[in-house]
Amino acid sequence: MPIIAIATTKGGPGKTTLAMSLARYWARSGLNVECLDTDPNRNLTTWLATAGCPVPCTAIAEDDVVDAAAAADERADVVIIDVAGALAKALVYAVSVAGAVVIPVRPDAKDVAEAARTQQHIETARKMVRRAIPYAATLVQVNRRAQVTAHSRAQLQALGVPVLNADVPLRTAYQQASYTGDPLADASVLDDISAIAAEVMALVESNHGA
Ligand SMILES: Nc1ncnc2c1ncn2[C@@H]1O[C@H](COP(=O)(O)OP(=O)(O)OP(=O)(O)O)[C@@H](O)[C@H]1O
Ligand SMILES: [Mg+2]
Repeated sequence: MPIIAIATTKGGPGKTTLAMSLARYWARSGLNVECLDTDPNRNLTTWLATAGCPVPCTAIAEDDVVDAAAAADERADVVIIDVAGALAKALVYAVSVAGAVVIPVRPDAKDVAEAARTQQHIETARKMVRRAIPYAATLVQVNRRAQVTAHSRAQLQALGVPVLNADVPLRTAYQQASYTGDPLADASVLDDISAIAAEVMALVESNHGA
């Protein structure tokens, strides 16, 4: 069963928002979801507790990522690991155990550069664990009509970073969810996240078929 790491060395693009949204999406699809919160700020733990979300979330120290992921993987259908936006051991450990890594990227030069840096860390992890680690960037907080969105997608592709077709628009519903803990109450968010979730599961499957 998949372990999904949501990770980039860049702070603030929307990792925790995406982790929370995917956790809620898969849980309402009937899957048994568990989250691991490796960020010392514990944003995911707090948000999932808000509005009494039934998805269990364990706050863990970075040295415990590998063991906690293995234990959660025994119990759950899907394990989601939220990682702090910095190069830290938690990021390396999380991508090392992941069945797929999602790299959230705002349409912005710095975010694109950090996605490429994250890709290098995933490549290093792949050599350490000696298995494929499927990964892809996904554009987040986008204005779909803005030229910079297409430009950032093209930049990622030019850097050799795979990009999901599905993106996450900039929507107040996601900001609202930082208070309510449930972005999926918004129908547009449900569409965004179901498209991302399908592509993430296909990414996991791509490895099984390899
Ligand atoms: N698609 C979106 N549309 C609008 N606002 C968003 C979106 N995604 C995230 N945000 C907002 O951006 C801010 C940062 O989001 P979030 O905390 O999820 O980022 P992060 O990558 O986890 O940050 P950190 O690196 O600090 O852990 C929050 O205020 C959140 O509400
Ligand atoms: Mg976060």
